[in-house]
Amino acid sequence: MDDHEQGYFTEENSAEVVIGRNKNAKDERLKEVMAVVTRKLHEAVKEIEPTQQEWFEAIMFLTRTGQMCTDWRQEFILLSDVLGVSMLVDAINHRKPAGASESTVLGPFYVHDAPELPLGANICLDRKGEDMVISGIVRDTAGRPIPNAKLDVWQTNDDGFYDVQQKGLQPDFNLRGVFRTDDAGRYWFRAVKPRFYPIPDDGPVGQLLGKLGRHPFRPAHLHFIISANGFQTLTTHIFDPDDRYIDSDAVFGVKKSLLATFDKVDDSQRAQQLGFSSPFWETTFDFVLAAEVARDVAGEAPQLSESQSGPS
Ligand code: BEZ
Ligand code: FE
Repeated sequence: MDDHEQGYFTEENSAEVVIGRNKNAKDERLKEVMAVVTRKLHEAVKEIEPTQQEWFEAIMFLTRTGQMCTDWRQEFILLSDVLGVSMLVDAINHRKPAGASESTVLGPFYVHDAPELPLGANICLDRKGEDMVISGIVRDTAGRPIPNAKLDVWQTNDDGFYDVQQKGLQPDFNLRGVFRTDDAGRYWFRAVKPRFYPIPDDGPVGQLLGKLGRHPFRPAHLHFIISANGFQTLTTHIFDPDDRYIDSDAVFGVKKSLLATFDKVDDSQRAQQLGFSSPFWETTFDFVLAAEVARDVAGEAPQLSESQSGPS
């Protein structure tokens, strides 16, 4: 009788019967999550009323998505990206105080062991593309510069590919580097103008985008992971505001506050100083890191950590 305490399974009570079956779950969070997922899924099925054939096609889509996954290709993350779920989870987990730089998706092309380089280094190892210099200051929310902040940077080449997508064609660690801000919180490095590119679209997620009349492109951007003691690590991009895909990023990663200005500079003297051919591109972008938050034992109001609460 225990199994039937919610009543026999019917179209009307389907979700509650399934949720009731989980009453002895060992993990309260899992129980709560599965209750919501079950309720919403049953709600969707009731609204859609799929035919048996349509449901089978949905199952086969998920099957192909799983089969596409390898050590270096995560098709389920791409699915989450194009459905806007990656950006939603990012937003929920990175609510920032006023003035702090906003985060965006990490993406699949980060590598953790890029070389640490001196400020000003050129991360473009094959010198292909349009020269670009990037600079700025990393500050806290009170406007104070943060010395020794670490900036892990990566971007595509002029053809819209990351080095890891073109092993053997591009030098390893092309267009990647780790920099540390100086005593005034400043960073600068040289690179090339990044280009828009498609997310990997030769699998079921690409096919889905095609069927939905959507393109797979991301507007040109540079990736940054910025970290410093006492501050929340910031995973973000800066975007070329003039890119043709700036208003239709396939993964919804663009935020207004992350639009940089890419200026074309026609100054042969400066170009020469930078080791560039003239003209070149220049962008300046300052980042603001939020202080690390310490939660009290009851998980209540977040507190500023002592070192970040500023002068009293
Ligand atoms: C990226 O920006 O590298 C990226 C983000 C999400 C999906 C694919 C690529
Ligand atoms: Fe990217």
